[in-house]
Amino acid sequence: MDSRSQTSFIPIRYFQEGFIYIISILKGMKRYMHIQIFNRRQFLTLSGIAGITVLAGSPKISLSQTGKEEKMAYTTKDYSKLIGMAGFSETLLKNHFTLYQGYVTNTNKLVDILGQMLKESKTGTPEYAELKRRFGWEFNGMRLHEYYFENLGGKAGLDKGSALAKKMTEDFGGYDTWEKDFKATGSMRGIGWTVLYQDSVAGKLYNFWINEHDVSHPAGCNPILILDVFEHAFMIDYGLKRADYIEAFFKSIDWKAASARMK
Ligand SMILES: [Fe+2]
Repeated sequence: MDSRSQTSFIPIRYFQEGFIYIISILKGMKRYMHIQIFNRRQFLTLSGIAGITVLAGSPKISLSQTGKEEKMAYTTKDYSKLIGMAGFSETLLKNHFTLYQGYVTNTNKLVDILGQMLKESKTGTPEYAELKRRFGWEFNGMRLHEYYFENLGGKAGLDKGSALAKKMTEDFGGYDTWEKDFKATGSMRGIGWTVLYQDSVAGKLYNFWINEHDVSHPAGCNPILILDVFEHAFMIDYGLKRADYIEAFFKSIDWKAASARMK
């Protein structure tokens, strides 16, 4: 079964996920009464394409309400230089940038909220636990997109004399075999990320499938090359033809950026 048949089940999957609203329930914590935890699709929609930041809609959980100026831990990076890149339309890229900006915004909000809850000793609460779990999703959603955009925009192939190319030969038998495995991983049923990781302990390279931003990342490994295979990364331009998107991705890899991540 190819990716086209897989994609047809996506609406069913999200229907099954249903609406997960976890609203603050402790009566003594009215300041957190409007915190809402959404499922993945809701967050993508609300915090990304629609340009709405869910957490920003809760002024009661902003540090600014405490009289202190809110400090943003992270700032959105500008990847507009990628516009015009072969194989990626401006519409697709701008939508993707907007989605990424939502992750940055929500990561900052969670940093603020969790910090404030810690300061107020509100850590033994369901709200703290759920937001803590959410933090991995938002943070990795931010960071993985940064890696992804930063390993795009290249025009030259991988330098066969580079340390990365030599390591691919050592661990996979050659570049072509590595590429075959990476593309096969990116073409798997489902949505997520494909990441070329380097084990920082053993030094070995592995192509990993990451199902969700916040799970399945190998501990202590260094991300070398990131491929986004969520639908938003390709469907505007390629519809269900994920393989064509992956080919376009490979034509625009910034191999210098990827190689520079080697340790
Ligand atoms: Fe993405």
